[in-house]
Amino acid sequence: MKEIDVERVRAETRGCRDLIHFNNAGASLMPAPVADYLCNFLREEEMKGGYETRSLRNKDIESFYKSVSLLLNAKPKEIAFVENATRAWDMVFYALPLGPGDKILTTVSEYGSNLIAYLHRAKQTGAELVIVPNDKNGQIDINALEQNIDKKTKLISISHIPTGGGLINPAHDVGRIANKYSIPFLLDACQSVGQIHLDVKAIGCDFLSATGRKYLRGPRGTGFLYVQEDWIERLEPPLLDQFAAELIDAGTYEIRTDAKRFENWERYFAGQAALGKAVDYAMELGLKTIERRVSDLAAYLRAELQETGLVTLTDQGAKKCGLVTFEHLRLNAEQVKTQLSNHKINVSTSSGSGMKLSYLERGLDGLVRASVHYYNTEDEINKFIEVLRSL
Ligand SMILES: Cc1ncc(COP(=O)(O)O)c(C=O)c1O
Repeated sequence: MKEIDVERVRAETRGCRDLIHFNNAGASLMPAPVADYLCNFLREEEMKGGYETRSLRNKDIESFYKSVSLLLNAKPKEIAFVENATRAWDMVFYALPLGPGDKILTTVSEYGSNLIAYLHRAKQTGAELVIVPNDKNGQIDINALEQNIDKKTKLISISHIPTGGGLINPAHDVGRIANKYSIPFLLDACQSVGQIHLDVKAIGCDFLSATGRKYLRGPRGTGFLYVQEDWIERLEPPLLDQFAAELIDAGTYEIRTDAKRFENWERYFAGQAALGKAVDYAMELGLKTIERRVSDLAAYLRAELQETGLVTLTDQGAKKCGLVTFEHLRLNAEQVKTQLSNHKINVSTSSGSGMKLSYLERGLDGLVRASVHYYNTEDEINKFIEVLRSL
């Protein structure tokens, strides 16, 4: 398997010249070609006009669909550009029919906004939310998932990589069960896209939501949705505008037949085109190559953290990802973050709001989250450990 040319990717990551950025699960540093493309697009809007620039750059805006479809092993018509992962997810979730007694199965480590939406719809429709317990590794228990399925199960929906730890939920196993019982499967791939190799056919998910700014290294305010083609025309988006649908006469409209029915007319065109460039950048490096490097760096970071004796590692999962979380034995998470920031090291804190059920179950409060990407290095990790020891 090919290797990442670390020197090259670091030369193309201007932010890392002056900074150790371990907040890739928040937002990664954009590569220079993506950032330059985005800035040029915006400059062109300033100088030539927004609508005129949109026409001039139409090819790049359209390429976005092709690029994302290649990334996921999907078709361009199955992809919608949406402004973030939450809205992308919502567009499908709120379109799925639910009635009294229908069951939604999810995980303990589910993302906070998704849980709020389940409860919201449960209140509106009388549907029931079922939290499938974890197995001994802290990931969704596949046997328990299967045991919870009955005639009233209308959706299986999980976060692939939850926001507050190193866990990778076994999406392929979940997909196998969902397909065995013909239950729609919605995968929140917000943290996994750009970090690990994703193939919607191999996973067997019907819908997938993702964001641009995290491991894909795209701009903020961008995201996308995948809807398997057989589902597109079966789902009526919860919101429609005159891009998603066409007004035929005073009493009739027709909804588009591709996944663009989940889009808006007005949007961040510069961001959409630049996200397409970020996807191309990741694909050129290779997602399997990226996955291996991120996982190796995170394993090194975990081992070095353990060695300090200053922290308790809190990552779960049989297979772990680039998100490394820990509690400092003496300092709270905010103190660690602030003091690291004084040394130009970026980490984030995870208060639990994004993964509340899991944190409540484990009695966790604030954690430090250090999330590495392929452009980070072992030297940066060594420096991080040295600073952490000095706090
Ligand atoms: C697992 C997971 N799902 C969804 C989201 C929401 O993504 P966005 O902020 O793009 O809506 C996040 C953000 O951190 C996340 O970690």
